Amino acid sequence: MPDPVQIFFDSVLPNKLPRPESYEAYSPSNIALAKYWGKRDQTLNLPLNSSLSISLGHLGSKTHVSSATDGVDGVWFDGDKLPNQSRFAQKVLAFADLFRRGQNLPLHIVTKNTIPTASGLASSASGFAALTRAISGAFKLALSDAQLSMISRFGSGSASRSIWHGFVCWDRGVRDDGTDCVARQLPHHWPGFRIAVIPVDTDLKSVPSSDGMRHTVATSPLFEAWPEHAEADCIRVEAAVLARDFTVLGETVEANALAMHATMLASRPVLNYLQPASWTCLETIWNARKAGIEAYATMDAGANIKVLFLETNRTQIETLFPQGLIIDPFADHTQECEFSK
Ligand code: PMV
Repeated sequence: MPDPVQIFFDSVLPNKLPRPESYEAYSPSNIALAKYWGKRDQTLNLPLNSSLSISLGHLGSKTHVSSATDGVDGVWFDGDKLPNQSRFAQKVLAFADLFRRGQNLPLHIVTKNTIPTASGLASSASGFAALTRAISGAFKLALSDAQLSMISRFGSGSASRSIWHGFVCWDRGVRDDGTDCVARQLPHHWPGFRIAVIPVDTDLKSVPSSDGMRHTVATSPLFEAWPEHAEADCIRVEAAVLARDFTVLGETVEANALAMHATMLASRPVLNYLQPASWTCLETIWNARKAGIEAYATMDAGANIKVLFLETNRTQIETLFPQGLIIDPFADHTQECEFSK
């Protein structure tokens, strides 16, 4: 039986890659406003439901790829050379192998995150998106953003959305071969839109999302309802972005995150990513809303809370969450994100 991953890469890449040039790329991290949880195909990494995210501007990953002058693959992360047997290097090199397909083209891959470690924000989305861009650039592959997004998906699902800035929708598609499972940037800017990241647990060691998804799909009695519910939320969030309706957007985003966590919590044994301090933050947001401050929460596969609000409420949010890292996703980040071609 032919390998579907090999078929995909053969369909988008030339048979023989040229010797790599040096190339550097930047990709922003992203936070899902309508979440992806559950795969319809593990091998091709196809999701059971569509998702929609906001990219985090200058918070992301910068990756530099060049030909290995010493003839041996090497991986550096935040200034340190990693042993090739380390988990991180293995993942990076396995991803590079999807491009190389057996060709002897050793690479030096240098990644730096612009995401503060203390924020507790995961960097796999921006990491794989930047890696995809940098490897494609190094091999002079003339790929479209949609193709880059599809390739990034093999690193992590959410990476498929980190190819773009702003609001990005990843359509689940229906075809078995995944050719209609592709992300797209929404052409809508929302200059007053803000996100505050509230660090609760900066230790990123929790259940990896792929394992958590498999466990939830297999054991949660609530999972049956999730894909349809999540798909409807995704459509609603996209419409709210289009209409710039912050109330509909915020209510949908928060309910979507809570529904995802409720579905996980019903798994056996329990899958819980939230901590007491996460619930305290949620209570603070719910009380703030009762007091007339429009703020909404979302949480991914971790304990940290992200608060959505508008610039007009910045002072109140800063008072409620002095530890929050405030992100302006539509600011001009060209300088911070600059990369050479
Ligand atoms: O990209 P992955 O496979 O690590 O999964 C991401 C899962 C969530 O962050 C919880 C939701 C999402 O859509 O990003």
